[in-house]
Amino acid sequence: MAIHLRTLFWSLIIATAICIVFYGKERFFSTPSCPKANGKILMARDSKIHSAQSMPIESKGFLVETKTNAALKPEQSNKFKKSKYSRRTSQKSCSPIDQILFLKTHKTGGSTITNILNRYGDSNNLTFVLPKQKQLFTFMWPARFRLSYTAPLYNFGANIMCNHARFNKRPMNHLFPKKQSRYITILRDPAAQYESVFNFMHLANPLGFKDEDDPLGTFLKFPPPFQEIRPLMKKTLALHLVRNPMLFDLGLDFRYFQNVTAVERYLDFIENEFDLVMILEYFDESLLLLKRLLCWKMKDILYFKLNERQDKQKRKFMSSEVKEDIKSWNKADFMLYQHFNRTFWRKVRAEGPSFQRELKRFRRQKRALTRACLQQGDFLDEAYTGVYVKGFSLKKNVPEKKKLLCESMMKNEISYVTYFRERMKTRIESTEEPDEYLDDPLNDWEVANDLEHDPILSGADSSGSGESLTMERPSSSEGEPTNP
Ligand SMILES: *[C@@H]1O[C@H](CO)[C@@H](O)[C@H](O)[C@H]1NC(C)=O
Ligand SMILES: *[C@@H]1O[C@H](CO)[C@@H](O)[C@H](O)[C@H]1NC(C)=O
Ligand SMILES: *[C@@H]1O[C@H](CO)[C@@H](O)[C@H](O)[C@H]1NC(C)=O
Repeated sequence: MAIHLRTLFWSLIIATAICIVFYGKERFFSTPSCPKANGKILMARDSKIHSAQSMPIESKGFLVETKTNAALKPEQSNKFKKSKYSRRTSQKSCSPIDQILFLKTHKTGGSTITNILNRYGDSNNLTFVLPKQKQLFTFMWPARFRLSYTAPLYNFGANIMCNHARFNKRPMNHLFPKKQSRYITILRDPAAQYESVFNFMHLANPLGFKDEDDPLGTFLKFPPPFQEIRPLMKKTLALHLVRNPMLFDLGLDFRYFQNVTAVERYLDFIENEFDLVMILEYFDESLLLLKRLLCWKMKDILYFKLNERQDKQKRKFMSSEVKEDIKSWNKADFMLYQHFNRTFWRKVRAEGPSFQRELKRFRRQKRALTRACLQQGDFLDEAYTGVYVKGFSLKKNVPEKKKLLCESMMKNEISYVTYFRERMKTRIESTEEPDEYLDDPLNDWEVANDLEHDPILSGADSSGSGESLTMERPSSSEGEPTNP
């Protein structure tokens, strides 16, 4: 017994020593399962971030590629300096989530979230779900999402989906199984969001209000009946956002927009489906909740605002009357926003006092990075053909290492989709089929011979006997086989 105990003791000591030697003291002490957790670190790093370039856009687009591997990045808990917070998170043994569906709503700050996800997926070599059609950058929005709208993933498995798609539970759950995936989305104060949708998408034109002094205000006083708007939607897809745009993106059908019971039920449904509903008005808090939900690092959520309208296009002042009219027209979206504003703050409170401290730290880092990367002044970026949004210009002398990060933060979603398509193509081309699939040696007819093939050969003796079973090939295409 004593011998056994001693053996056991020494085995433990030796195993521990080996662990420390191979995986480093810090890593060993910060991860309970030292060998397994760290084996993948090298593989997980693929931080080639391609340079930013904004491209003209066609506006409607589709699917992306992704890759799944839960074990892919335990790096997080190990590698990082031992700030109080990181030590705490590693104790919680949280490991980064890399299956994320972001339901991108319109004019809610979604482009910035998409950039964050694109960057993360890129530097961690993840697979993006991409729109199937090459010229598209959404998943056939405004149609409800379908699997057939996505470019093939081969056997890579989906990691991230973050371009416009209209919510559809079943195909989305198929690509992103609820258990290991996180579903996230973002909302915005519906008065501001509606104004932004209406003006950015130029809805006044197809609706016939563009010559009014105040197109939005007038439209809200005299909205045409649904039966008149509906046929216009085919030609102007953006008109699908004419009422309750956020709930439309989240998948609720028009016919329920005035039914309180149905809307309330749908809100419960959304609450079940989504792990986090962010709020644009509390963007930094939202990102911090996101970081904690996904077990990411602070640098993963740093951002510059993307796809923001130019100041001159922004409506400077909206009368409270217009606001009230927007509210009355989009009651369901207001219910949505109120509901999730409440759940949002409940989540923030549940995070405790460390949340506010981390928020300060986050804002400091963000300011520092902005100072390091960007020139002051106004610059433009083409959001889609002929429509310009605020852009950024990189400082001339940013150090090389930081430059990659700065550039990737300025890169819009169109450039990323184009870049990911290319990367997926390369990956597929370099994926070789295993030999055994090409030529399986076990697939051999000759291994036994008890059912040997012994064809009857038509020789001189059988011809004319009338007993031959040999059939001639039919001579005409429709002809029956004929016996001689
Ligand atoms: C990215 O991941 C794929 C699949 O896991 C792998 O084959 C490829 O080598 C990785 N690329 C880099 C640069 O790590
Ligand atoms: C409202 O929605 C509920 C739930 O879907 C449904 O049972 C009810 O019939 C609807 N009411 C009207 C007036 O359509
Ligand atoms: C959202 O919730 C916060 C905190 O409860 C509150 O201060 C704010 O007024 C709410 N916003 C809206 C638009 O309801």
